Amino acid sequence: MVPLTTRLTSLLGVRTPVISAPMAGASGGELAAAVAQGGGFGFIQAGYQSKQKLKEELEKAKAILGVSSLQRAPIGVGFISWILEAEGASSNDLLDTALESRVNAIWLAFGNDIGRWVAYVREYDRRQADGHKTLVFVQLSSEEEAAGAVNNWKVDVLVAQGIEAGGHGRASAPPLLTLISSLLNTIPEEGPPIVAAGGLANGAHVAACLTLGASGVAMGTRFLLTPESLYTDAQKKALISAGSNSTVRTLAFDRARGTLGWPTGIDGRALMNQTVKDLEAGVPIEEVQKLFQRSIQDGDPDRMLVWAGTGVALMNQIKGAANVVTELHQETVQHLERAVFIRSAA
Ligand SMILES: Cc1cc2nc3c(=O)[nH]c(=O)nc-3n(C[C@H](O)[C@H](O)[C@H](O)COP(=O)(O)O)c2cc1C
Repeated sequence: MVPLTTRLTSLLGVRTPVISAPMAGASGGELAAAVAQGGGFGFIQAGYQSKQKLKEELEKAKAILGVSSLQRAPIGVGFISWILEAEGASSNDLLDTALESRVNAIWLAFGNDIGRWVAYVREYDRRQADGHKTLVFVQLSSEEEAAGAVNNWKVDVLVAQGIEAGGHGRASAPPLLTLISSLLNTIPEEGPPIVAAGGLANGAHVAACLTLGASGVAMGTRFLLTPESLYTDAQKKALISAGSNSTVRTLAFDRARGTLGWPTGIDGRALMNQTVKDLEAGVPIEEVQKLFQRSIQDGDPDRMLVWAGTGVALMNQIKGAANVVTELHQETVQHLERAVFIRSAA
């Protein structure tokens, strides 16, 4: 396989500059391990999980990869910062569960006090004094956030999340192409590598991001359509049926399920359905919540929650996550080679 060496692959020790983003309700140990087996880097999402559940997912990944410590595996754990901030002391337990596994990376997003958790990770590593450095990824959507992450928190990787992204994100995020370029203009060359996220579906997209100057990509929605993701069959079927105009940015699903602790300015991109329409039309929240709960049990696409990025329109197949990574690698190489050929032929 033709190598795709970037600052990110060197930092993570992986073959392919593709990361599966930590996705609440979808990214467990099985998915992260499969991505790692394919040559990419896989994140497990701690999200709304208990310490016990996270431990189980970490054990699952270790068993699949046949390693005794995740220090030797390209696996990380993602945290939703506002949940850590709301949970108080038990948040330290949740973080410690990942850190005790000596995972290679921690991903933080969506909080008012992300710097506190970066400091916590650094302090944990300092106390262990075993030479292991946990890499810190922070997902963000503006130059201001990036400046803080680089100058104040000294993070290891910036994940630039564009408006196209599935799941939660900044409602005012610029489109990904603009965001990557503006971050590259602001971040010093020796600053952390930038990973592009949002709406990416195939190797042409990965090649485009690398060409722009990103060191890799993080994909979410693409990895929902794998046997290893924790999404239900009904959710996967809805993703396969989705087209170019099927997604919407909204807080309707958070209202329907009662997860309203998101920092100001954060909403989420999901498949549009009756739950959103009802709330917009002023149907009483209690009624919407009742129907929404029923839709989860029934797998009813007209009301259930399916987070999805704009790239969903280009996805029509469920495929093993390791294969997804291998194919993305090959497609990316093909697209880059074609671009080089055009340049040298001119
Ligand atoms: C189902 C789903 C759940 C997500 N959950 C999280 C999360 O818990 N934490 C996080 O930082 N990002 C989360 N995201 C956003 C991803 O980190 C990433 O930015 C996004 O998936 C990229 O866009 P794409 O889905 O179009 O590839 C989620 C995305 C999806 C699709």
